[in-house]
Amino acid sequence: MSVKPRPGILDVAPYVGGESKAAGANRVIRLASNENPLGPSAQAIAAYAAEKDKLHRYPDGGATELRQTIAANESLEAARIVCGAGSDELIGLLVRAYAGPGDEVLYSEHGFLMYPISAKTAGATPVAAPEANLTADVDGLLARVTDRTRLVFIANPNNPTGSYLSESELKRLHKGLPDHVLLVIDAAYAEYVTAPDYPQAAAMVEAADNVVMLRTFSKIHGLAALRLGWAYGPPAVIDVLNRVRGPFNVSQAAQAAGIAAVQDRDHVARSVAHNSKWLAWFSDAVAKTGIEVLPSAGNFVLLRFPGGTAQAEAVLAATKRQGILLRGMVGYGLPDCLRVTIGTEDDMRATAEALQEAVAEAVR
Ligand SMILES: Cc1ncc(COP(=O)(O)O)c(C=O)c1O
Repeated sequence: MSVKPRPGILDVAPYVGGESKAAGANRVIRLASNENPLGPSAQAIAAYAAEKDKLHRYPDGGATELRQTIAANESLEAARIVCGAGSDELIGLLVRAYAGPGDEVLYSEHGFLMYPISAKTAGATPVAAPEANLTADVDGLLARVTDRTRLVFIANPNNPTGSYLSESELKRLHKGLPDHVLLVIDAAYAEYVTAPDYPQAAAMVEAADNVVMLRTFSKIHGLAALRLGWAYGPPAVIDVLNRVRGPFNVSQAAQAAGIAAVQDRDHVARSVAHNSKWLAWFSDAVAKTGIEVLPSAGNFVLLRFPGGTAQAEAVLAATKRQGILLRGMVGYGLPDCLRVTIGTEDDMRATAEALQEAVAEAVR
């Protein structure tokens, strides 16, 4: 008898991250993982570096100062915050704590892949609700809620589609859910959103017992390497997360960098302004080539190719040969699409040009 994991574990397809290397190319433009092209705040880097003499000390297991800083910055209650090693960890902990074999975890068809992966890892059943126009569909989601549903995940805005649910739609979804279902609003890209009808997820958390908001330091704060995220939830859910998380799940260096990052509002504002400008510029430039550009509220944009899957594959390969790394979307059920992160000005100009050439090549 050999050692065996629990049933279902070997059916889990490991998450495949964006590519970071392009063999043979003399430059690499990394636009496959929705990272901040401006990098982190200089103050966050300094705070991280200042931790180097204390590496023999355990971190503050309660991330007290970080939680207080986040709370002060966003007018939230520190006691309702739990920090995690990236929001990925918090997604996994929520699923493990609230769902198991026989339970269902509901998400939107083209939602973030960690939702079905985490569900399967916990032995629960992921259930995908169809979308309308690459946007989460509230009626479609509600129609798939059963007695077994334990969690509903909504990335708002969603990765990879870039679409979002408005405040009224998200509230309608919440209203339609039975009390035993936990609504997880994954707001990884919240800081980038400029639309006035974007929901105040924190207020929804405070007004209910079954809503959790997730946030990350990997996107606007440019700290993806440090693995830092946080959850804002009802006291009972926070209590559960504190029981199931590791006692020192967030490193002290990540906590220190996170505190400085939150306080550097200028860096956040610069990152938002950069993104708004180049998202609009790039979307316009690419739309002129005949590629369909889906509207995005995040720091990335989804492109749909009129020539279908074959064209998307050809463009992915052609851009990679030039050292431009985009994200293929086969795993998201969108094989005729590619996702492009908004990078630096040079990145976006080079990518728009490469896409134009690749499309012209295809019609020749
Ligand atoms: C919607 C969404 N949620 C969560 C994450 C995970 O972020 P983290 O780096 O905090 O684990 C991502 C990362 O791409 C994401 O797109």
